[in-house]
Amino acid sequence: MRKGILTLTTCTALLASTVAACGDETETAAPEKKGRIGVILPDSKSSARWENADRKYLKEAFDAVGIESDIQNAQGDKTSFQTIADQMITNGATVLLIVNLDSGTGKAVIAKARSRGVAVIDYDRLTLGGGAEYYVSFDNVKVGTLQGEGLVKCLTDKGAQKPIVAELNGSPTDNNATLFKNGYDGVLKPKYDAGEYVKGPDQSVPDWDNTKAGTIFEQMLTGQPKIAGVLAANDGLGNAAIAVLKKQKLNGQVPVTGQDATVQGLQNILAGDQCMTVYKAIKKEADAAAELAVALATGEKGETNGTVKDPETGAEVPSVLLEPQAIFKENVKDVVADGYVTKAELCTGDFAQKCAEAGIQ
Ligand code: BGC
Repeated sequence: MRKGILTLTTCTALLASTVAACGDETETAAPEKKGRIGVILPDSKSSARWENADRKYLKEAFDAVGIESDIQNAQGDKTSFQTIADQMITNGATVLLIVNLDSGTGKAVIAKARSRGVAVIDYDRLTLGGGAEYYVSFDNVKVGTLQGEGLVKCLTDKGAQKPIVAELNGSPTDNNATLFKNGYDGVLKPKYDAGEYVKGPDQSVPDWDNTKAGTIFEQMLTGQPKIAGVLAANDGLGNAAIAVLKKQKLNGQVPVTGQDATVQGLQNILAGDQCMTVYKAIKKEADAAAELAVALATGEKGETNGTVKDPETGAEVPSVLLEPQAIFKENVKDVVADGYVTKAELCTGDFAQKCAEAGIQ
């Protein structure tokens, strides 16, 4: 079937130039006919990772194997997402890598692609009911578990007694946000049930919108001024909460979590305003996705390390899931050592001193 995908798209591409070449068996089997990989990133505001890390690492991975790629960003617009996908298919993409804006958008793209013989990889976010060929991501429940455990560690370090915990969850339309929440609630719920912690406000942030997160957290803190810990699902949401806490001079006293090891998140950790973040080695994610995309484009079977069940269809999607890592002030240096952020971007101005204290070389 994958061979079929290649032949069909190769023919489509060849049709544009020379119709005669299409039926030629040797032409279609030629290794250089790998086509083009289209990548659709979701936005550039919900996390710095998409433009700063994913774009760069994906481009490098495709360049390294000499396959052409077209990487675009839907900027949070579901109609653009669809249009970009259509254009990529028309322009001869053999494989699409998508980070869906919600499962509905992803599903429509996968269905269209499939009808044109174009394979799709769900990159980072699973499209529920979509049926992509592959799914490449991190163990997202583990991400949430690390956040929950991280918050517990920071609250314990502060000697918090019966802390009221607020939860600022990711977008309700992102399956990852559900998985993160499953992870951290798995840690926090037993604490609530045992009366060790008090469950405070718990709200999702539409589209991971950082501005909305600020408004939501402002309302949370007005309604419950004694919030003593904030489980924020990523660094952007965490930063929005920190900005509100700053206005009440509560920053640094109320631990806040995050995710993505963004420069802003790491600086908030160095400043003592954020308790932890979760580092996901995006280079590994991009490399794994690129490898599978090339396999699909060349009709080979790709290497996966498991399957993920699509809760809508029950289908087991062949997947690559990578391990996330918890980052606290003590090991911010690991993220720099891994090359994910540079000392130059992180250790600016007042952070130079804090970087030195944190052993960042
Ligand atoms: C990603 C996170 C990101 C969030 C907002 C999630 O699906 O896994 O890394 O912070 O989307 O873009």
